[in-house]
Amino acid sequence: MPASHSDALVFFGATGDLAYKKIFPALQAMVKRGHLNAPIIGVAKAGWNLDQLKERARDSVEKHGGLDREAFDRLCALLRYVDGDYNDKETFEVVRKELGSTQRPAYYLAIPPVAFELVVEQLAKSGSTNDARVIVEKPFGRDLSSAQELNRVLLGTFNENRIYRIDHYLGKRPVHNLVFFRFANALLEPFWNRSHIESVQITMAENFGVQGRGGFYDGTGAIRDVIQNHLFQVLTNLAMEPPPRTDSESIRDEKVKVLKAIPPLETKNVVRGQFRGYRNEKGVAPDSQVETFAALQLEVDSWRWRGVPFFIRAGKCLPVTCAEIIVRFRRPPTMFSEFDLRANYFRFRISPEVTLAFGMNVIAPGEETVTQTDELIVSRHPRPDEMDAYERVLGDAMAGDPTLFAREDYVEEAWRIVDPILKVATPVFEYDQETWGPSQVEQRVSPPGGWQNPVVQD
Ligand code: BG6
Repeated sequence: MPASHSDALVFFGATGDLAYKKIFPALQAMVKRGHLNAPIIGVAKAGWNLDQLKERARDSVEKHGGLDREAFDRLCALLRYVDGDYNDKETFEVVRKELGSTQRPAYYLAIPPVAFELVVEQLAKSGSTNDARVIVEKPFGRDLSSAQELNRVLLGTFNENRIYRIDHYLGKRPVHNLVFFRFANALLEPFWNRSHIESVQITMAENFGVQGRGGFYDGTGAIRDVIQNHLFQVLTNLAMEPPPRTDSESIRDEKVKVLKAIPPLETKNVVRGQFRGYRNEKGVAPDSQVETFAALQLEVDSWRWRGVPFFIRAGKCLPVTCAEIIVRFRRPPTMFSEFDLRANYFRFRISPEVTLAFGMNVIAPGEETVTQTDELIVSRHPRPDEMDAYERVLGDAMAGDPTLFAREDYVEEAWRIVDPILKVATPVFEYDQETWGPSQVEQRVSPPGGWQNPVVQD
C-alpha cells in the first residue's frame, strides 16, 4: 500500500543555521514544483515573530539559490511560527493548535541531537505523534552506543517506518545513480568483483575550512562529519549486491549487508590530519586533536570483494572541492612489456559535475613505445532546475518513501566499523592548506599505484 503523504511540516530549529542554508531554499523549491502545499510550522526559541521568520526565509533563499517571487509568496502563505522553549509543554500545545485539523504531520528535528529526546517526549506527551513521521539530521549519534541510545529514544515513540534519518548525500542524484548505473547496464557487473578489480578509492575533497562552524566541527571531526555517513553511503552503493526488487527495504537490506562484511577499523589503517591554522578558528580548542582530514583503508570481507582494499579520504582545505571515485582494474597479462602501462580504471565523479569515465592505455600520438591514459568520458554539469539533495530528501520523507534514508541497523553497523578508532588517541598530523593532507598518508594508507587526485577545471 503506498504510504500516505504528510499533511503538515513542523520544523524545529527554524531560526538555525541549517534552516537558513538548506531548508528554506528546499521548501521554496518544493512549493515551486507543486510538491508542497501544506502548513509549514517553524519552531524555535529566538523571541521572534512570524514576520521575522519570513524575513530570515527571504534572506536565506536570496543567498542560497535565488528568490522566486511567486513560489516564495506561496511559501510565506503556508508558513507559521511558534516561539518557545522545548522544555515548556505550552510550546507543544501551541504547535498542536497550529496543526489544526491536520492528521499526519512530519516533525523535522533540525536541532542538535542532545535536544532530540526532550522534543520527542514533549511531542508524545502533547498527543501529537499518532500517524506522524519524524525526520532527524545527522550526526546521528557520536559513536555506536550514543546512536543506540538515540534509536531507543526515537523508537520509544515512532515505529522505524516513521523515522527518516537524513543523510543528504543520499539525496544527491549521482550517488543514487551509482546503483542505477551498475544494475541498469550489462557492461559493468561482469567486471565488478575481486577477479577484475584491484582497489577502490573514494575522495571527498573540500577547498574550504570549517566556515564558522568551528564549535560544531571541533566536537565532530572528519570521520564523524562525512566518512561514517556520506562516504559509507557511497561505498555501499558501489559494493552492494543487486537488490532483488527496487523497493526501499530490498535496497536498504543490501546496503546493510555490505557494512556487515566490513571488519572494525584498525588504527594502522587510519591516518588523521589537521590543516595548519585550524586551531585559530573560532570555537576550536587551541590544542585540538580533532581531524580535519582522514584517510582510511577498509576491507569488504564478502565473496565478491575479499582482498580488494577500499580506501576513503576526506578533508578540509585541500586543493579542490570534488567528490570522486576511482575503481582500478587488475592489469592484463600483456606482452607489451616495453610500455609503462597503467592500470585501467573507472572514474565516477559525484560533484562538482557528474562524470563517468573509463581510463585506458593507448599509444601516445607520434610515439612508438610511449603510452598514455585516455579516457572514454561523459560529463555534465547539473541543470539549474535539478532537484537539490535537501529538496529530494524532504519531499521523499513527506511522501513516505524511506529509500534514501539511513535505517537503524545501517547507522549502527556504520558506527560499529569506526568505533574502535574513535576510542583511541591516534596521532593527528598537520598539513599545509591546499595540499592533499599529511605526507604520512602516502606511506601508510595509499592504494596500489597511489591516490589519484581529482583535477577540477575552473
Ligand atoms: C555536511 C558536512 O554534512 O556535508 C560538511 O557537515 C560538508 O562539513 C558537507 O561540507 C558537504 O556536503 P555538500 O553537499 O556541500 O558536498
